[in-house]
Amino acid sequence: MNLKYTIKKDIEQALIKIGLKNYYKPLIIAKKKTELGNYQVDNLIKIAHKNNIEPYSLYEKIVFLIHKKNIYKKIIFSYPGFMNIFINENFLSEKLEQLFNSSRLGIKHVVSKKTIVVDYSSPNIAKEMHIGHLRSTIIGDVMVRTLEFLGHNVIRANHIGDWGTQFGMLIAYLKYKKLEKKLQENLISLKEIENFYCKSKKKCDLDKNFEEQSRKYVVKLQNGDPNCYSIWKKIVKITMNYNYKIYKKLNVTLKQQHTMGESLYSKMLPDVIKDLKEKKIAIEKNKSTIIFLNEFKNKLGEPMGVVIQKKDKAFLYSTTEIACLKYRYEILHANRIIYYTDSRQYRHLLQIWAIARKANYIPHNLLLEHHTFGMMLSKNKRPFKTRDGDTIKLTELLDEAINRAKDLIYQKKPNLPKKILIKLAKVIGISAVKYSDLSKNRNTNYIFDWDTMLTFEGNTSPYIQYAYTRILSILKKSTIRIHKISEKISLIKNSEIKLAIKILEFEEIILIIEKKGTPHVMCNYLYELATCFSNFYENCSILFSEKIKTRKSRLKLSFLTAKTLKKGLNILGIKTLKKM
Ligand code: ARG
Repeated sequence: MNLKYTIKKDIEQALIKIGLKNYYKPLIIAKKKTELGNYQVDNLIKIAHKNNIEPYSLYEKIVFLIHKKNIYKKIIFSYPGFMNIFINENFLSEKLEQLFNSSRLGIKHVVSKKTIVVDYSSPNIAKEMHIGHLRSTIIGDVMVRTLEFLGHNVIRANHIGDWGTQFGMLIAYLKYKKLEKKLQENLISLKEIENFYCKSKKKCDLDKNFEEQSRKYVVKLQNGDPNCYSIWKKIVKITMNYNYKIYKKLNVTLKQQHTMGESLYSKMLPDVIKDLKEKKIAIEKNKSTIIFLNEFKNKLGEPMGVVIQKKDKAFLYSTTEIACLKYRYEILHANRIIYYTDSRQYRHLLQIWAIARKANYIPHNLLLEHHTFGMMLSKNKRPFKTRDGDTIKLTELLDEAINRAKDLIYQKKPNLPKKILIKLAKVIGISAVKYSDLSKNRNTNYIFDWDTMLTFEGNTSPYIQYAYTRILSILKKSTIRIHKISEKISLIKNSEIKLAIKILEFEEIILIIEKKGTPHVMCNYLYELATCFSNFYENCSILFSEKIKTRKSRLKLSFLTAKTLKKGLNILGIKTLKKM
């Protein structure tokens, strides 16, 4: 049930019936203070003035047309020109009833199902994931969960950086140090590989011979040489095995089958280059192949050049990206593609999209979106790094989260069995890191602060998770079994009505995320829902209400709150606990 949308549609139709031709879309807002209504039409004055009508007279006309609908209890005018709407309690109660037995909280699958490719996480091979990959991974995961919940055909694309010149260097280094056998016997860790990678880069800068070797290995690898291929494959495997452990720890839904790395498109590259040349989109200049784009200018104001093949015939990140886009449209039949990668790649993506459109690899109506995100900062507002100024590895961050949660729980409950303590710490610690990130608008930088994310107050995961367990314990204490209740919910007190409306708002939130990919909207919502429940709990006795009918109704309302909290947290990829 989307109350806001229903009201908006009713008013829009009324405006058409009244005969208004040009009007602004009615702007409906939920009111915080509900004494004057649950919803308000915020731009009645604007609509009225545009059509030379007095706001009050327009209000009367609209009300005449819609007041009989069972959703409205009363609609009042408040000066200078607001229309305030009270929702009918019986209507709310009926709608809640529909959620009661629905595992989808009454939300239907979308009518126009789309195939949506979500490109997220996408770490680079031969390196440990660092905190920079956290945001892409968890924000992208909320998006796939949301889209899948709505019934879209979602394709997770983990566009790992598994192709390129770095592998030539690594292979050369492993051979130079005679480490090949050790690698194949699984005796080399990712940490060591990353270390070799750094050393091989340095060696390349100093040693011309080594550089030459590295280049040869890249070509060999690209041509499918079995030995180079098996070394490469092993390096990818070691890295990804490590990453899958992190995904699991993070409760992220990425699995082996979602890996669609850069190497997947490598076979397409020669044909893409050939085709782009034939179409006269790419030209050869100083032995490189370049695409000049008029719509992008370089520093001198000249058309920007995107190199797609270097002098030495090597392909680039951009080349792969063009082929990948072609693949996603032609083979995967995507209608919408969303990239979760940081804002520095914006220009790069725009260029790729422009090239793919020019070459007719994708149609103009294919939806392409870059969902960017800001950086994680430390308290001094500098990029969040280790004391030595290195990037922080994701594993280290998650381990610290679990340790901090463990200390916190131990302080509160020193007698908890160790097994339970660890289990709780894992859920609470990881959730706190995820939630504190997801609850910030993804477009902005945010300050990473252990202390605020691990408190039980405010918009934090411990607060929401605790609210959930508290409701469970209320339901457990009751002698009435929730599914045995046949009576409908009756909403009498203001705090009950507010809670009911909040529960029904869930669909509105899901639809915002579907469009914009902004998990913070869900966090804010869950926080408000938990707060509404708190209010209800303070004002309305649940287990001790005198009338059995009231008790039943309130138990049902509590149950629906818990159900919504759980579903919302599930969309965020955050686990709930039965006890805290
Ligand atoms: N591997 C890249 C990085 O770690 C991100 C790739 C994002 N996806 C893409 N299609 N460009 O920065």
